[in-house]
Amino acid sequence: MDIYAVFGNPIAHSKSPLIHAQFAKQTAQDLEYVAIQAPLDGFEQHLTDFFEGGGKGANVTVPFKEQAWRYAPSLTERAELAGAVNTLFLSPSGEVYGDNTDGIGMVTDIIDNCQVPIQDKNILILGAGGAVRGVLKPLLNAAPARLVIANRTASKAEDLARHFAPHGVIEAVPFAALEEPFDLIINGTSASLGGQLPDIPAVVIGSHTVTYDMMYGAQVTPFNRWAKQQGAARTVDGLGMLVEQAAEAFAIWRGVRPDTLPVIDYIRQL
Ligand code: ATR
Repeated sequence: MDIYAVFGNPIAHSKSPLIHAQFAKQTAQDLEYVAIQAPLDGFEQHLTDFFEGGGKGANVTVPFKEQAWRYAPSLTERAELAGAVNTLFLSPSGEVYGDNTDGIGMVTDIIDNCQVPIQDKNILILGAGGAVRGVLKPLLNAAPARLVIANRTASKAEDLARHFAPHGVIEAVPFAALEEPFDLIINGTSASLGGQLPDIPAVVIGSHTVTYDMMYGAQVTPFNRWAKQQGAARTVDGLGMLVEQAAEAFAIWRGVRPDTLPVIDYIRQL
């Protein structure tokens, strides 16, 4: 049986094995997908052992995505730009490739599942770490009218905007200088993890604004709770992104793309 794995630390609460088991069942693929907790200083060795032991492909999550980017002998263009790898696959000649399906997963969730358009819209993205960098290229590919990146440490947003400028219309604006509502606001900061909120002015939320938090948890995220209080039209969490990035990886490995909506519903109800 073909074996796949997700590597992370911690990994016990990962939903990926459940998601891939649902995909395999739905598409009648004979495979096993396991969660592997690699020690913080032993990720590369674990990955090498996994592939040498016959592993067919892997996902990588926190905190190993940047290490996987350095490890992969070859990278897809989107992974190269993202600076992080969440999916590893074998080429027909057996070479390990690093890819990144997070960005396309998020964009597919926003446009197809949530039916929220990006093209010609004004988009604000908060944060300038690995999570944001990973989604900028697919976001720009969806042709927003304006993509503004804002980060607590403004210089990091400026660096990212400069890096991605050849790929589309993107600008950096300091938190305090945000002064109008956006159509869509994506929270890619890790503030929610500590129960905190990015310190942005409430004026960014209009009555038509949709907010999208890349985080997902059993409770509404602090960011989405705040956005609702400010009158946002709609708030969405990152569960759909999680399932879509997995579907993209599954399609790369198995050549068949599963139906994601029933799996999003299934995971939501756990
Ligand atoms: P990830 O890989 O999840 O993106 P990261 O690279 O550590 O993690 O980046 C975390 C991001 O969340 C950064 O943009 C960080 O802002 P700074 O660059 O100013 O550190 C942002 N962040 C974390 N806590 C935050 C908070 N309380 N308010 C605003 N932004 C926060």
